Amino acid sequence: MKAHTYENVFLGIGGITLVACMGALVYATLGMGKHLPGVGGHIDPQRAYQSAPFDRLGVTPIGENRYEAIIVGQMFAFIPPEIRVPVGARVDFIATSADVIHGFHIERTRVNVMLIPGQIARASHTFTEPGEHILICHEYCGSGHHTMAGRIIVEGPAPQGSPQQGSEPR
Ligand code: CUA
Repeated sequence: MKAHTYENVFLGIGGITLVACMGALVYATLGMGKHLPGVGGHIDPQRAYQSAPFDRLGVTPIGENRYEAIIVGQMFAFIPPEIRVPVGARVDFIATSADVIHGFHIERTRVNVMLIPGQIARASHTFTEPGEHILICHEYCGSGHHTMAGRIIVEGPAPQGSPQQGSEPR
């Protein structure tokens, strides 16, 4: 069978694009170590508030300039609704849902995970500037979805020579 010239050209462009995208994916995964936020454990969603680590909600220092922020999402709020973290510190967010699937996105950061009932989600971030960030539920979770938001208040002076704003998976 003889293919039309244009068909060959389009097939060629399609093939090159496919190979380039595959290459980019392999490079990002193996070369740059990028990967999706992993499942950080499992709990019984019916007993979310009694299960470690969600039996101690809020911000706890876990090391030098390092904090853990433990948060539960439920219809239609984040618990606790507001947390305070120091500027320049690494904050490890550990979150889950007590009922249905919720989103967990901290505006102006790359922290963006899904809260799935029974699964523990983890993400880390270092806030390099003081200020306020809204924690947004960005998965439709019911009639009050649009009202579901929390607040993250970053306290303290902007550190000198602070590192680049960024998130790292862990
Ligand atoms: Cu929770 Cu939308």
